[in-house]
Amino acid sequence: MQNAIPSSQPIVSSLSQEIALWQKHIANQLNSQLPAADLEPQSLHRAMRYAALNGGKRIRPILVYLTGQAFGASVKDLDSAALAVELIHCYSLVHDDLPAMDDDDLRRGKPTCHIQFDQATAILAGDALHTQAFEELSSANFSEKAEPQQLAMLSLLAKASGSLGMGGGQAIDLASTNQAISLETLENMHRMKTGALIKASVLLGAMCAGKIAPSEHQLLSDYAEAIGLAFQVQDDILDIESDTETLGKPQGSDQEKAKNTYPALLGLKGSKQKLDDLLQLALHALEKLPYNTATLAQLAQFITQRRH
Ligand code: IPE
Ligand code: IPE
Ligand code: MG
Ligand code: MG
Ligand code: MG
Repeated sequence: MQNAIPSSQPIVSSLSQEIALWQKHIANQLNSQLPAADLEPQSLHRAMRYAALNGGKRIRPILVYLTGQAFGASVKDLDSAALAVELIHCYSLVHDDLPAMDDDDLRRGKPTCHIQFDQATAILAGDALHTQAFEELSSANFSEKAEPQQLAMLSLLAKASGSLGMGGGQAIDLASTNQAISLETLENMHRMKTGALIKASVLLGAMCAGKIAPSEHQLLSDYAEAIGLAFQVQDDILDIESDTETLGKPQGSDQEKAKNTYPALLGLKGSKQKLDDLLQLALHALEKLPYNTATLAQLAQFITQRRH
């Protein structure tokens, strides 16, 4: 049994500052890379910009930057990977909110894309954000360190987003809504729908510094899988404990739609215990990595303690 690593320290303000800095950086990147709003077809480009330039915590690109920097990658190389994961994430939110999926009308404190525009435009905006992610990564002008990893990065991102990753997890979510499922199925669903893209963000960041050594790949994967699952467990907890204003999305949406969630299966206490176990797993994996992973450890704490 390993010793517990203190997990209840307040998030240091230096992490908050670092998060704010990267949030601004990725917003600038998105702003310059997304098609201009006055470019035809204007309604599509406006919807894409609306869905991507509307705040959001930017946790996935931040993971790309923080992991990449720990492994010695350059910010320029990391920019393409960071853009790609956030574009995939933004697309997934637009589709997740559609009436055929979660049917939600508020996202990041504003009307969801299909409410602000219309359903067809929201579907197309999601499609176009999705494909732009692969355009960013495939057309990146990488350095000598990152360039040999480019194909592997594309393949990793495609797998993490597809039917064996996020897309598949979303399909399991929809198919199992209103039905009783086992804890094992729930965990698998969470690992796919949310964990896969978060894991990809961590690995892509490291790959921008070159090929990851197998032993480091395992430890990094252990960290990423733990925080990826933890992210969705906390999302499920916040759906119950938070409020719509803080969340920027409708509180109670899961219960209203009889979604399978951690609190629904384990209760709030059991879910919080699960969250703490996952944080410990993540911190122990980081401890064994021969890099300065202090900020990644703080980010794991942030993910499990976040209030929105
Ligand atoms: C919400 O993701 C959807 C999940 C995968 C749980 P985030 O909580 O990262 O949403 P934003 O990007 O900050 O709005
Ligand atoms: C969404 O999970 C996961 C995605 C891949 C978008 P949720 O449906 O729980 O996300 P929210 O709560 O609407 O943000
Ligand atoms: Mg959903
Ligand atoms: Mg949803
Ligand atoms: Mg949710």
